[in-house]
Amino acid sequence: MDKITSFVQKSDTNAIAVAVFGAIGAAVIAFKALRFLKVLVDVFVRPGINLKKYGAGNGGWAVITGASDGIGKEFASQLAAKRLNVVLVSRTESKLKALAEEIEQKYSVETKVLAMDFTKGDERDYAALQLLISPIEVTILVNNVGTNHEIPTFFEDESDKTVDNIIEVNVNAIMRVTKLVVPQMAARKNGLIINLGSFAGLVPTPLLSVYSGSKAFLSSWSQAIGAELAPKGIRVQNVNTYFVVSAMSKIRRPSMTAPLPEAYVRAVLSKIGVSGGASTPYTSTPFYSHAIANWLIENVFSRSFWVGYNYDLHVDIRKRALRKREREAAAAKKD
Ligand SMILES: NC(=O)c1ccc[n+]([C@@H]2O[C@H](COP(=O)([O-])OP(=O)(O)OC[C@H]3O[C@@H](n4cnc5c(N)ncnc54)[C@H](OP(=O)(O)O)[C@@H]3O)[C@@H](O)[C@H]2O)c1
Repeated sequence: MDKITSFVQKSDTNAIAVAVFGAIGAAVIAFKALRFLKVLVDVFVRPGINLKKYGAGNGGWAVITGASDGIGKEFASQLAAKRLNVVLVSRTESKLKALAEEIEQKYSVETKVLAMDFTKGDERDYAALQLLISPIEVTILVNNVGTNHEIPTFFEDESDKTVDNIIEVNVNAIMRVTKLVVPQMAARKNGLIINLGSFAGLVPTPLLSVYSGSKAFLSSWSQAIGAELAPKGIRVQNVNTYFVVSAMSKIRRPSMTAPLPEAYVRAVLSKIGVSGGASTPYTSTPFYSHAIANWLIENVFSRSFWVGYNYDLHVDIRKRALRKREREAAAAKKD
């Protein structure tokens, strides 16, 4: 009889344990599913803050670094189309002037250009930028400029110059430009700072280790200053970017996961204040396929899985890049 009672008691305990674990499992799955639903609502339904709040159509200026090509060029054009005046900064003066002329003609806004090389960290360049922006109302800053390893490279083989350049452009320059702009935004209690983050900052990326570290810095720093600046009326948004067609990504053809800069920037500007796929504060992943990838990274498999995935991916990209270099060298010999 005792044996039967003990068997029944054990079965009861087992059943309770199964029920508790089942309920916890169901709650976790339900939470993840709800989070996924929120991602979909964010990217497909929720509108972002209207850029009129940040001076569009009302004399506001947007400063865009790395404005002469790729994503930055698209920010310049789309912000001008929304009737913001634009300050365009990058290295190549001829490209900046041509873009400024095109923008003035197309959108009837004012432009200013400054050719500077952020790798130099030259005080005179920052002084020139300060002089350029001090008489105007900068309402938006797009910290877009960024540089990367030429091809995926093991850290010990990477040149000191490349390492220094990445830190100077992706870290120091962004802080210096932001420091120039924040005081006037704070005085007016209004401003928007968009930082071009990367998935390499979300998941550590072997063979792009310095770039990846610089974007992780950007993510953390954006969240910290986001909290500091919010009470001053300044919104900081670190934009988690996966692949976009550009010279940097070396992707030529658009796909579902790698849009053209035009589609990508349209998504960013229409989702100001909306987190999309991102779950960290002051961060957004506004492009739909990137948002889904962001959700997958945070909810499916472990972080070590994704680091391993990134390792394999970049070892493969390195092999292909080296083969391409060999082909190009052979073709150059023939010529
Ligand atoms: N494309 C992607 O798949 C991807 C993914 C994640 C994150 N991002 C981020 O998005 C941002 C823009 O990338 P992108 O793909 O558009 O790059 P991109 O096509 O290579 O354009 C870079 C822009 O920055 C300027 N620039 C480069 N080095 C500079 C320097 N030392 N000083 C001043 N200007 C400089 C370039 O113009 P000049 O040559 O005339 O100077 C160009 O206008 C970067 O922060 C990048 O990390 C891109």
